[in-house]
Amino acid sequence: MKKIPFVDLKIQYKNIKNEIDNAIQIVLNETAFIKGKYVEEFEKKFAKQYGVKHCISCGNGTDAIYISLKALDIGLGDEVITVANSWISTSETISQSGAKPIFVDINEYYNIDTKKIEKKINSKTKAIIPVHLYGQPAEMSIIKKICKKYNLFLIEDCAQAHFAQWNEKKVGTIGDMGTFSFFPGKNLGAYGDAGCIITNDDKFAVKARMFANHGSLIKHQHKIEGINSRLDGLQAAILSVKLKYIDKWTESRIKNAKLYTELLSSIQNVQTPKIHSNAKHVFHLYVIRCDSRDKLNQYLNANGVSTSIHYPTPLPLLKAYDYLKLDQNDYPVSKNYKNQILSLPMFPELSKGEIVYITDLIKDFYK
Ligand SMILES: Cc1ncc(COP(=O)(O)O)c(C=O)c1O
Repeated sequence: MKKIPFVDLKIQYKNIKNEIDNAIQIVLNETAFIKGKYVEEFEKKFAKQYGVKHCISCGNGTDAIYISLKALDIGLGDEVITVANSWISTSETISQSGAKPIFVDINEYYNIDTKKIEKKINSKTKAIIPVHLYGQPAEMSIIKKICKKYNLFLIEDCAQAHFAQWNEKKVGTIGDMGTFSFFPGKNLGAYGDAGCIITNDDKFAVKARMFANHGSLIKHQHKIEGINSRLDGLQAAILSVKLKYIDKWTESRIKNAKLYTELLSSIQNVQTPKIHSNAKHVFHLYVIRCDSRDKLNQYLNANGVSTSIHYPTPLPLLKAYDYLKLDQNDYPVSKNYKNQILSLPMFPELSKGEIVYITDLIKDFYK
């Protein structure tokens, strides 16, 4: 039986093995393990490719959000608006900063419903964190306008959306700060945990860099208390190699998504992803909505196709948020979609034959 993984990291490594192995060996030879030359090099390259003034690397994408909140002085007594369907990092970091997460339901693009944001704003609201989920930008023109109107900070969670664009502007550069995860399975993935923040604001950049490094920019001079969230040299060297390929890989993801959509569009029981006319969707994930989701999922798995669900439970419905005593009927779209969404295998190296195999199985299932 054919076996198709959800993400194939081995094939990508095989394709660039020599370059990666060389980069790792150099870091080992120089024992440049924490911070240092290779981290600085990656930060410079990433900032340049994004056309921003600052890239502050850190330990992972969760820390990137937490550090951004701290750099913006968000904390106790504040409220931060975010989206009901995301990975828990987006909201747990709000709570950890001392602020209260306020959830807004999603729209047909699986992103924050911008029509529902304003009624959640009050005098305590300090920021909005939209998530560019699955690789598709949230409606940034509207969100930015709302932030301006109410004087709110804007942090973009770009963990799933490396080099995605809204109106031809790269996401992460539209708000005050953009946060990234380089978790191995992400569009740009390290070989361990890694993350970064980008910003054009000098003050926020200094504060973020300081907070991520025990509150210090100069050794033993701690202006504030911070945390230990650093990128290591091995990950930085690996990311620098992979950064050269990101445009090519992104185009392959888009091509794969197009083929999926073409082959699935005739199936009545399946809703393929809608792409917003202002968005460049980079397809970190290819998520369909479908009838009898669990049965289809089992059928695909039984035939060697690995799948996933992003996410089985919307954030406000998680046990972790019982304490907020939220009205669970406030998130009808997220609640409705949670039993229909299914993430199909998606990675740049996925072949045409594999996509045909997967979509044929889906066709057979609904026959
Ligand atoms: C939307 C979103 N935000 C934040 C994160 C956190 O990233 P990390 O796993 O690197 O901490 C992730 C990663 O899973 C994510 O998908």
